[in-house]
Amino acid sequence: MATITTESEQKKRLLRKYAVCLVAAHGQAILCSRSMQAEKQFFQHGRISCYDHSVAVAYFSLLLAKKLHLRVDEKSLIRGALLHDYFLYDWHIPHPGRRLHGLHHAKLALQNAERDYTLNAKERDIIVRHMFPLNPIPPRCRESVLVTAADKFCAICEAFSAGFPAAAVHEIKRRCSCNKNA
Ligand SMILES: [Fe+2]
Ligand SMILES: [Fe+2]
Repeated sequence: MATITTESEQKKRLLRKYAVCLVAAHGQAILCSRSMQAEKQFFQHGRISCYDHSVAVAYFSLLLAKKLHLRVDEKSLIRGALLHDYFLYDWHIPHPGRRLHGLHHAKLALQNAERDYTLNAKERDIIVRHMFPLNPIPPRCRESVLVTAADKFCAICEAFSAGFPAAAVHEIKRRCSCNKNA
């Protein structure tokens, strides 16, 4: 019995390491870009920055895909997850042009992401549909469904200061070339 527990723990550790490596590898161009670095200034939920929230969503989306044994386009899943909240302002600060943030920020994130990066159809769908069901048009691909679910899960972890994958987020950032010598 003890052996089974050890094996299952080992599998979990390997899966987490795989997710960390893949998010860093496919995400580093976005994570190291100047405009994405700006997300570090903005809080998302609790004391978690929008940048760290996005990294956590990419990490959990990939873990979820693996746990459910779903075949996904991993690169698009990670890139779309990293850019899903790319609205680039602090939504806690009242601003007359940014009312109803919850309803409008997915479209704004897509506009910004299309301006700054070359996106494929899945990445666009992930970003613009991630607020389903608040935005009532459902996701069109399984990658978007995974990000939508991981985003809600992360928001709950952040709001209640429990379960946020701080060590994985730290390790993903450390593996990115822009942080190698930091
Ligand atoms: Fe969002
Ligand atoms: Fe989010």
